Amino acid sequence: MTKITINPVTRIEGHAQVTIAVNPAGEVEDAHFNVVELRGFEKFLIGAEVEEAPRITPRICGICPSAHHLAAAKATDQIFGAELPKTGRNLRELLNLGQFIHSHALHFFMLAAPDFLLGHDAPAEERNVLGLARRSPEIAKKAIAVRKFGQRLTEAVGGKPIHPGNALPGGMSAPLSEGRRTELLGMAEETLRNAQEGWEIAKGFLDDMDTSIGEVQTAFLGIADQGTYATYHGEVQVMDSTGNIVGGFTGQDYTDHIEEYSEDWSYLKFARLKTGDYYRVGPLARLNIVQSMGTGGADAALAEYRQAFGKNVQGALPYNIARYIEFLASCEKAVEMLSDSGITGSDIRTPVTGVVHRRGVGIVEAPRGTLIHDYTVNEGGFIERCNLIVATCQNNYAMDRGVFDMARRVVQDGQLSSSAANRIEMVIRAYDPCISCATHAIGRMPIDIEVIRQCR
Ligand code: MG
Ligand code: NI
Repeated sequence: MTKITINPVTRIEGHAQVTIAVNPAGEVEDAHFNVVELRGFEKFLIGAEVEEAPRITPRICGICPSAHHLAAAKATDQIFGAELPKTGRNLRELLNLGQFIHSHALHFFMLAAPDFLLGHDAPAEERNVLGLARRSPEIAKKAIAVRKFGQRLTEAVGGKPIHPGNALPGGMSAPLSEGRRTELLGMAEETLRNAQEGWEIAKGFLDDMDTSIGEVQTAFLGIADQGTYATYHGEVQVMDSTGNIVGGFTGQDYTDHIEEYSEDWSYLKFARLKTGDYYRVGPLARLNIVQSMGTGGADAALAEYRQAFGKNVQGALPYNIARYIEFLASCEKAVEMLSDSGITGSDIRTPVTGVVHRRGVGIVEAPRGTLIHDYTVNEGGFIERCNLIVATCQNNYAMDRGVFDMARRVVQDGQLSSSAANRIEMVIRAYDPCISCATHAIGRMPIDIEVIRQCR
């Protein structure tokens, strides 16, 4: 058996590997997306006070800490039996918007755009954010400015730009001052202008995007609020592969619909529907599920997206466009929320006393998809059992099969060229996998691609 290793695979968050098996005729027999690291937050949260979970779990990931913070806080609301007051709820939603703006801008401009703007076959040393800055300095500058707003919003509402800590059982620990609100509103308006200009670039990718690449027929999962796009409030919708909403859940009942499983070649868990169907989460799933984005510019963009790709999009690369539309929607929503001076209200928390329910399940949309935090506590409020389901696990099957599809297209006579390797990476990158979330990994950024040639 001959092994060809391509290293590194770049522009994803975390460490993973691709293995391609080639038969003696040089044809691809199978390919897998493997994640080979494990840290185990689900185990070492056991014994912690549950009110500490919103502060511990953001450490799972430096890219999507707010989502873990909010999912954990939502679970503790249930455990302590607290209904949030209006401003507390709104601040939680605003914090999630900061996360989406920061994470989506990072992915679109810095990780995905080099492929589309510089070309898939550009030399690897140019096909990155620095190459992008040389080619299109104005885009790079805008990318840095919009990310900065996302971080600033997270800091103002969450207390810190990375690993926010202000959400706690029953609400938030600090209100937003009027001075902060007006400062953030100015930044939000500028960010929205940049996002609108960027849509002109993003939609340029609509025309020649091959949606058959990495296509898998799956069901989809994502939060919607009465059919409207939402990331914090609302009900998780289950959509089957033909585009029909077939169920929904908001909390503990998630186990009626989905289950996790493992494969022996990856430490990254998988998830599927209880019906046995595979499903996906994240921007593509959410846009398939909603009827409206809830804001004008994003709704117009959604109409153009559906004109190009249809209503039930099953490809992999359209994730990149869906992600941009969500970025636009998040900017519009941030302007809307910050324009309302009610966001500075003092009704931020319902005081809590003791454990009311022994189990709490917090579900929010993270930039990469539906995030579930499930805690069971003892009567003293110490965690006895913990299950986290992150987006990357739920997209694991689709990434794996997408890699197989692309490998079949680009591996020639058992040989993998540099541009072919990048095309395989592009399928994975479209999902924006968060490997540190998914396995709670410590380690290097690159992923390896390995070709295993089977001998007769
Ligand atoms: Mg789990
Ligand atoms: Ni993450």
